[in-house]
Amino acid sequence: MKDSVRIGMIGAGHIAHSHAEAWRKEASLTAVASRRIESARSLADRYGIPHVCRDVDELLNRSDVDAVGITTPHHLHHPIALAALNAGKSVFSEKPLAMNGSQAREMWLAARRYGAKTGIQSGLRLFSALRLLSRLLRDGTAGRVHTFDAHWSFDWARQPDFPLTWRFRRAEAGTGALGDLGVYMIDAARWLVGEISQVNAELALYVTHRPLLTAEDHFGELRRKHREGELDIPRETGQVENDDVCQLMLRFENGARGSIRASRLHQEHTLRVDCERTSYFWQMEGGGDLMERASDDKYMPVWVPATSHDDSIVTTFLDNIRQDRDEAPTFRDGLAAQLVIDAAVESNDTGRWVEVERI
Ligand SMILES: NC(=O)c1ccc[n+]([C@@H]2O[C@H](COP(=O)([O-])OP(=O)(O)OC[C@H]3O[C@@H](n4cnc5c(N)ncnc54)[C@H](OP(=O)(O)O)[C@@H]3O)[C@@H](O)[C@H]2O)c1
Repeated sequence: MKDSVRIGMIGAGHIAHSHAEAWRKEASLTAVASRRIESARSLADRYGIPHVCRDVDELLNRSDVDAVGITTPHHLHHPIALAALNAGKSVFSEKPLAMNGSQAREMWLAARRYGAKTGIQSGLRLFSALRLLSRLLRDGTAGRVHTFDAHWSFDWARQPDFPLTWRFRRAEAGTGALGDLGVYMIDAARWLVGEISQVNAELALYVTHRPLLTAEDHFGELRRKHREGELDIPRETGQVENDDVCQLMLRFENGARGSIRASRLHQEHTLRVDCERTSYFWQMEGGGDLMERASDDKYMPVWVPATSHDDSIVTTFLDNIRQDRDEAPTFRDGLAAQLVIDAAVESNDTGRWVEVERI
């Protein structure tokens, strides 16, 4: 039944609004908890969530919560997911799944031990053009994949006076552009081409200091206030601790090669896959058509069939619960992406190609 899965949300910040929209269309929103009860209350009022919990434990103790959706800063995904699994809940988590591969592995193994369903936010898998590309690559008409090249960049941090939030601190965010943005393309690379076996990466920091602002605005509100000049920006600055831009070179198990660039200072959303007989190019902006070029021809749009589905980020997770299956993306995919992130960090530190740990 459409509304039979009862959801408790943990985190009530910027992205929690998109999650609440998705949950309320496809499931039943029962409860919400956040760090500050006022944030939880405000989300509850807006989306008609009946119970506001004082803290995470109170939410996890509720018998009317079957599954938990986590939208907190990155360092909390691991402890909250483990506590939720331990309390018998299924868990859907924002990306990146954890702070490192060993945390992610612990989460995946715990879910398997409890027989719980898991899901991760992996928005690129929802684009119709990319779903078609995935089918075209699988059916083999394009031939073997030679190269995968992708950019996933949002320039929200381009201005050096954008304040120092948790996203710039290693203890709360882990890596910067890599874990926040590059992770999407790591997941897309695995989904479209196959497992990544080796990585050579460079992580770059350009804006080393940012204003220390104590305001507790959520991400979207902070961006709006910054854009509209409503922030009283202090002169005191703090150290940025993670990457503004990451560049990864990839080797895939099937022999394909690839590259990924992600940045929080620039803007670009493109993906191309060059195969033996055909090349494909996709750009999110401007309609998001899938373009193809067979030989000497121009790039031409590929007709993307209209879909009857209206999947959201949570559809696969909810279907997995209802149908007792484990279709990707689950924590296993979150772990796989995390292992690539770990390899990229090691490669940046050592200046060498690094083997990606196998699951
Ligand atoms: N922003 C985006 O466009 C976007 C897009 C895709 C994915 N994501 C992912 O979504 C997640 C959250 O990002 P965001 O942009 O929504 O961040 P955000 O606006 O800063 O919100 C973070 C939320 O986590 C809550 N929180 C912090 N510490 C907590 C604790 N100890 N216990 C419970 N809740 C706690 C905060 O509580 P308070 O409400 O009390 O402050 C806030 O509600 C991250 O994994 C991020 O990578 C974000």
